[in-house]
Amino acid sequence: MADTPVIELRGVGKTYYNGDIATPVLFDMSFEVGRGEFVAIVGGSGSGKTTLLNLMGLLDRPSMGEILVDGRNAGTLDEPGRASVRRDRLGFIFQFHYLLPEFTVIENALMPCRMKGRRFQEEQEPRMRALLEKVGLGEKLDSRPAQLSGGQQQRVAVVRSLANDPALVLADEPTGNLDTRSGRVVFDLMRSLSRESGTTFVMVTHDDNFALEADRLIRIRDGRIE
Ligand SMILES: Nc1ncnc2c1ncn2[C@@H]1O[C@H](COP(=O)(O)OP(=O)(O)OP(=O)(O)O)[C@@H](O)[C@H]1O
Ligand SMILES: [Mg+2]
Repeated sequence: MADTPVIELRGVGKTYYNGDIATPVLFDMSFEVGRGEFVAIVGGSGSGKTTLLNLMGLLDRPSMGEILVDGRNAGTLDEPGRASVRRDRLGFIFQFHYLLPEFTVIENALMPCRMKGRRFQEEQEPRMRALLEKVGLGEKLDSRPAQLSGGQQQRVAVVRSLANDPALVLADEPTGNLDTRSGRVVFDLMRSLSRESGTTFVMVTHDDNFALEADRLIRIRDGRIE
């Protein structure tokens, strides 16, 4: 299975329907992402990047075509089946960190493990503590998100995305809310985690510097790959 792509899109299209209004957004997208790859997706505002990432994350269904995760056709799965692929195989980072304010840093980082049970959470805690220390947050494990800077909060979100040891992390403009310096720290962190742990990353970004440092660049224009 080592050479099975982590994710594969075959002729994927997406049209949003609101009442009588159809908005076609993505057209005939076909590509695959191999194990351990770091892929950047770039394109203008409204070109369909978030729509694409939502489809890849099984948060939404395509109107046409197929998406295979680890060789499994996600379109044939019911909602609980899709939820279990998300829980077991995928990690997510968004532009906003979505840390829960009433929980500490370590509790937030472990949040995805909760859904897999207390036992799994306890098993993962040492690894998550070590990761938080590695990203410079060793002193902040018991702090609340509000006591952290924006860059520190997003570093917690990056660590959290690895809690379930995912095959693929999907990141939608993870540096979009950060200043240049914090953005660089967060990007370098993702890049080094992908190199060291072999985790596959697909990252949407507006920053050409980051995009050029990816293994591969996918450019989207008006819902098509350029
Ligand atoms: N739920 C929806 N219903 C109808 N149209 C939508 C919906 N969500 C997104 N769109 C439209 O789809 C197009 C692509 O949106 P999307 O959010 O994927 O763009 P994007 O490339 O992520 O843009 P940005 O860089 O601004 O985040 C836009 O024209 C948007 O208005
Ligand atoms: Mg977007």
